[in-house]
Amino acid sequence: MCHNLARSAICEFMRRQLACRPRNDASTFPGSITRHRQAMRIALLIYPQETATVSAGLESTHMTSDKACGFADLVRQRRSCRTYKTDAVPPETVARILDSARLAPSACNKQPWRFAVVTDQATRLRLVREGLQPGIRMEWAAIAPVIFVLGIRKDFITHRLAPRLSGVEYPLLDLGIAGEHLVLQATELGLGTCWIGWIRPRQVRRIVDWPGDITPQALITLGWPALPPSEPRPRLEPGDITKWI
Ligand SMILES: Cc1cc2nc3c(=O)[nH]c(=O)nc-3n(C[C@H](O)[C@H](O)[C@H](O)COP(=O)(O)O)c2cc1C
Repeated sequence: MCHNLARSAICEFMRRQLACRPRNDASTFPGSITRHRQAMRIALLIYPQETATVSAGLESTHMTSDKACGFADLVRQRRSCRTYKTDAVPPETVARILDSARLAPSACNKQPWRFAVVTDQATRLRLVREGLQPGIRMEWAAIAPVIFVLGIRKDFITHRLAPRLSGVEYPLLDLGIAGEHLVLQATELGLGTCWIGWIRPRQVRRIVDWPGDITPQALITLGWPALPPSEPRPRLEPGDITKWI
């Protein structure tokens, strides 16, 4: 147990070292390249196999793409945004964000996701007033200049039959991946987003006028943040959620 915890802590430390490693910029971060090398040497001594595997994977990403470090930063910067400016988001920006969602992987490449882009103010208000479950105040969502509605259109074999056999809800997995592509693309462009899962799917479907075979699963608000990002919310430690075998 202790051994596993120590191993995952060290591996996480190595990942961070590699992910945030300075490239050729020792002048900006004096000493950090040396510290990075020392950390890697120690890790290699203690867990040679894991270190080599993690290191090889991350090193190759670094070598092929300068944006690898940018992605790690992006993931750390993202927050749920609940305070928006009223300024519109240009349609081409919204289209670019949707394109990143569209490129997500999906089981059997069935792409069950469907999106409604709601910019009309009256419809956004209806979504917030009639499309949300009671009990949590989310008026802030109507200020966001864009609300995406994320829905699922199920294919019989992959989305109805296969989950019955395996017990795995493929379309929900697919939609979650696409939705987070959308969120991270928006974050990269300086926009704020917030997932909203506390919805009334039937009412939402009626408001966006989707046919009966598309089921809304979530909303995501989009807009320019009106406040600086909040402090990060706590996360479980790698050792609490990971089992290395
Ligand atoms: C599937 C899903 C549903 C969520 N539903 C809501 C919601 O209904 N209302 C809300 O204010 N936030 C909602 N959130 C945002 C979470 O509260 C938030 O992601 C979490 O507290 C972590 O904070 P962070 O996103 O700032 O890191 C949802 C997030 C996810 C992924």
